[in-house]
Amino acid sequence: MGWMSWNAFGYDLSEEVVLATADTMLRSGLYAAGYTYLCLDDCWQGGRDAVGRLRADPARFAHGIAWLAGQLHTMGLKLGIYTCAGPRTCAGEAGSEGFEELDATTFAEWGIDYVKEDYCDAPPERSAALERYRRMGMALRATGRPIVFAVCEWGKRAPWEWAASVGASQWRTSDDIQDAWGGTGGILEVAERTEPLARWAGPGHWNDPDMLVVGLRGRSRAGAAGTIGCSEAEYRSQLSLWAMLAAPLFASCDLRQADATTLALLTAPAVLAIDQDRLGRPGGRVRRAGPVDVWHRELDGGAQAVAILNRSDDPVSLRVTWPSRHGPAPDVINAWSERPLEGGSELLRLEPHATVLYRSASSGVNPIIGLEPER
Ligand code: GAL
Repeated sequence: MGWMSWNAFGYDLSEEVVLATADTMLRSGLYAAGYTYLCLDDCWQGGRDAVGRLRADPARFAHGIAWLAGQLHTMGLKLGIYTCAGPRTCAGEAGSEGFEELDATTFAEWGIDYVKEDYCDAPPERSAALERYRRMGMALRATGRPIVFAVCEWGKRAPWEWAASVGASQWRTSDDIQDAWGGTGGILEVAERTEPLARWAGPGHWNDPDMLVVGLRGRSRAGAAGTIGCSEAEYRSQLSLWAMLAAPLFASCDLRQADATTLALLTAPAVLAIDQDRLGRPGGRVRRAGPVDVWHRELDGGAQAVAILNRSDDPVSLRVTWPSRHGPAPDVINAWSERPLEGGSELLRLEPHATVLYRSASSGVNPIIGLEPER
């Protein structure tokens, strides 16, 4: 869990931004909730020096990356960085092709804790991607420093089949997420693209459906100019679905300006607990009833999570009943409100694209969902 700079900042990234974001993470409860990585995405670079070592843009990172990592480590935080498997990154900066060992060593010397490697300007074949990522994966491992390795080739060459074998802990499953619900790259499409891949993920090797767009509200690269982003219900659904997918959680809005609602969504304890559940087994869709999808995820210790999602553009009313095997009311909470489900049943009105997320302490009990006519 952490934060990634791309969506909100692009080239407007600087050490000041990173330190102010780190400060916010500590003060706002994000760090206490589990967000620890701050990741510089593309656009931190300032070319290579005379011996070929990467350097940060001195205008925006005056003290250098090693200094920045040191500052974050003192605060109990971790620093991530971005590079690319081609000679140029997606934004045209220096990439790592042919420099894998040197760059891995440089990152380790700087105290980097996470490396995202992109795939712009690189050959399309799966064998080439595998080879390039293997080179970086092995080079990072050879440094002896524990560094999370994140493969970012957008799910184009089935990385779930090979990325763990080249040392990656996570791999993107899709193109860039958009600050939108529908369409390509929207929350629903990315979630549904990732959902069938559950069996490839588990502790230490995760499907990555990309950053959280929660709180962007249209102010980012992740979306067409002039749009207002997602509704609160849609942002809540992204967190609910990412939790069901056991996805890495990287916030990407400008946390320095995040309002109380955004912070409350990002730090909802019972939702994050589902995402980070120790069993590490992603869930998936188990039922479709008209506009409503039901997702199920098995949790540690025999518990389970159930998400009920309204895919349609209209509100839906439904009655959810949890049959109990052990007495009058089963042990079920709404993971967003953390309130127990009184009497094991409730009538819900789900807004368009809204999700209700439950956690049940006992397994083997499936809720019965009955659609009610809209009045
Ligand atoms: C894309 C990548 C994004 C971001 C961007 C930076 O390829 O998917 O997450 O890293 O490049 O240029």
